[in-house]
Amino acid sequence: MNLTVIGTGYVGLVSGACFAEMGNRVTCVDVDTKKIENLKKGIIPIYEPGLEPMVARNIENKTLFFSTDLKESLRKCEVAFIAVGTPMGEDGSADLKYVLQVAREIGEHMVAPLIVVDKSTVPVGTADKVTAAMREVLDARGVDFSFHVVSNPEFLKEGDAINDFMKPDRVVVGSDDAEATEKMRSLYAPFFRSSMDRLITMDVRSAEMTKYVANAMLATKISFMNEVANICELVGADVNKVRIGIGSDSRIGYSFIYPGSGYGGSCFPKDVKALIKTAAQHGYTAELIGAVEDVNDRQKLVVAQKVVDRFGEDLSGLTFAIWGLAFKPQTDDMREAPSIYIIKELVKRGAQIQAYDPKAMDEARHFYLKDVPKVAYFDSKYETLKGADAMILLTEWKEFRSPDFEELKAQLNAPIIFDGRNQYNDGKLRQMGFEYYQIGKQSLPVEVSA
Ligand code: UDX
Repeated sequence: MNLTVIGTGYVGLVSGACFAEMGNRVTCVDVDTKKIENLKKGIIPIYEPGLEPMVARNIENKTLFFSTDLKESLRKCEVAFIAVGTPMGEDGSADLKYVLQVAREIGEHMVAPLIVVDKSTVPVGTADKVTAAMREVLDARGVDFSFHVVSNPEFLKEGDAINDFMKPDRVVVGSDDAEATEKMRSLYAPFFRSSMDRLITMDVRSAEMTKYVANAMLATKISFMNEVANICELVGADVNKVRIGIGSDSRIGYSFIYPGSGYGGSCFPKDVKALIKTAAQHGYTAELIGAVEDVNDRQKLVVAQKVVDRFGEDLSGLTFAIWGLAFKPQTDDMREAPSIYIIKELVKRGAQIQAYDPKAMDEARHFYLKDVPKVAYFDSKYETLKGADAMILLTEWKEFRSPDFEELKAQLNAPIIFDGRNQYNDGKLRQMGFEYYQIGKQSLPVEVSA
């Protein structure tokens, strides 16, 4: 099929590349000329495993094209995907200005019947707004091409996005038109080799709602577990054991019940807020989902509080080694990352920071921590330790999982670890003489060998 993907952000780029990989002819369009010039050369603006070679391969195969010319790309297009950003507006709702602008531009340039797909995460009712915006422009042009707006929300996880797209758990298509549904079915059929059961079709509004509810449900699991972790710590229980105890119940399951420093990223914080807002706009107070957000805000500072409990309110003269800045492993994304909040809190109290992350340091340096003083960046995890008073682990990158603890001991001023992701074995660390603080379990005294 001939496809246009508008917006070469995370979702647009991954979707465009994966559709091209399945043999479609895809043009990815963006207004950012520099970005498009780079993409034509195979230079990708984000870090996502597997994406760069896939883009290069499809440019070479002439299945993937990049352009700033929406008009030209729509000439032979059958399905146009809107994958532009929906930033959080000041009131917490999703800002649709880019989506509606694109809708108007499509109306301006389309020359044949078209299916328009909302791929961006958009609130319930957006498909109607996109339809109205397009209709208005077509009427002004005095033309009457048929079109249908379909909702096809994205469930990609950063760091595993290619896999999620190529082998999806499910694809949700919300459409109020049978022909458009069929077209979407045939577009996605190659992604489901054995059975099409996991291509779930429904009405547009339910599909729009599904995306928000999926993310809110996952965020709820995390906040629930973080709350449980805080209670465990107070009553002398170990949340790591409780997690295994409850996860073994298949109705609960093991996934997404890892306590930590709170969820971050581009989706959960934004979508949880937007769902609360949508409910409020319809006169409903989403109490549980509101609490999910509050618990997460509080959880982001739990590690900083542990540092204060250990070292006192005034941290001046102290240095902390931070391992991990990204909101999760396998990405350079720092949007809403707990590391931002924790580092700011420590610096506010006078501390010096020595940070390392395998991928996110440029983001930190040039954007998220640009205005935060007293943060130095290092090329390796061990270099951050020299002269530091404790190590603080904030992202569970694989390279942090089993470090050389003797090296940690040798480099740190004192053997103290604050673990915001519960990665280590506290018994072993205690035996080695470490003070070890984790989430959801009281810190036990260091064992002193006789
Ligand atoms: C999420 C959804 O998983 C994806 O389906 C949706 O399309 C976009 O949002 P993503 O934001 O890439 O994807 O990250 P994810 O792997 O889901 O993790 C989100 C956050 O939750 C991270 O900060 C992670 O550290 C945290 N998390 C996850 C926990 O704290 N505990 C867990 O058990 C799982």
